[in-house]
Amino acid sequence: MIKRSRIIGTGSYLPKRILTNDELAISVETSNDWIVERTGIRQRHIAADGETTADIAYQSAISALESADTSISDIDLIILATTTPDNTFPSTATKVQAMLGMKHGAAFDIQAVCSGFIYALAVGDNFIRAGQAKRVLVIGAETISRILDWEDRATCVLFGDGGGAVVIAKEEGSNGILSTHLHSDGRYSNLLYVDGGPSTTQSVGHLRMSGKEVFRHAVVNLASVVDEALAANSYQRSDIDWLVPHQANLRILSGTARKLGLKEDQVVVTVQRHANTSAASIPLALDEAVRDGRIQEGQLVLMEAMGGGFTWGAALVRW
Ligand code: ACO
Repeated sequence: MIKRSRIIGTGSYLPKRILTNDELAISVETSNDWIVERTGIRQRHIAADGETTADIAYQSAISALESADTSISDIDLIILATTTPDNTFPSTATKVQAMLGMKHGAAFDIQAVCSGFIYALAVGDNFIRAGQAKRVLVIGAETISRILDWEDRATCVLFGDGGGAVVIAKEEGSNGILSTHLHSDGRYSNLLYVDGGPSTTQSVGHLRMSGKEVFRHAVVNLASVVDEALAANSYQRSDIDWLVPHQANLRILSGTARKLGLKEDQVVVTVQRHANTSAASIPLALDEAVRDGRIQEGQLVLMEAMGGGFTWGAALVRW
């Protein structure tokens, strides 16, 4: 039997406050119609004053641990994907570790922006395959609202806050994470970035994006990494039961689904309610589809994401 890891629980958390497109249109020159037509987004959740990425990650972790019926004492590693950490250091993962009352094991952050969850899942899976961990808590959590330029209508309408988490555990059977595939190409860092940071401006900065260029690269890179994941496991596109993509915008989701020959109802879509929550978007969507019973044991689930860097990746899972 091949040693691999299996997702044994999922969880998520969304801040209470909902910001609608109409509310946004009061402060920037935009409209509900423009946002819905170009992105599919209708609303997003925004963290409350004082509510941080660690708080969101903690709530998501609690929800995933409950769903996995696992106590924190059984977790030996916490990996938190975020691009909006509470502080430059320490890592937000160690803050969450303390909030969960965990004193053993290790915790660290991963920075791969919107691909963060796929990167974190790949690292967790590899720790388990290498025999260095038995149960890993993988979290994607963001307060992207804190790095938006709320006067830039081309970006501020696209994002939201939230968190999602999974517990992965050592598995001897044939179900579980079949393979993960990571890529990056730093030549495109100027197309999607934050114009600040400790070593450059000593300020946090704001998210900047060349939307059209990002869109163009996203469709090509995502189709290619999806095919790579399928080929690595000798599957065809028609074998996929569910696509759980990073939720950037509906047109990228539909474009990828069309390229893969998937029916619309095989794609888990939450972007209309969550907007783009960066590293949190896949675990948020996954949790929704697991809890409402769409994703069933034995089905083939494909997750994919692309984000700043550029970074992109995919994970193929036999649920
Ligand atoms: N409301 C109204 N008008 C707007 C808005 C807005 N919120 N934003 C931009 N516009 C205007 C622009 O100013 C421009 O006006 P102009 O023609 O007078 O100059 C016009 O709309 C068209 O702007 P474009 O940027 O060309 O619009 P486009 O059709 O490309 O849509 C969008 C923009 C939605 C951002 C699109 O490029 C996109 O979806 N890109 C993908 C990027 C993405 O989702 N990134 C997320 C992070 S990366 C990731 O997760 C994959």
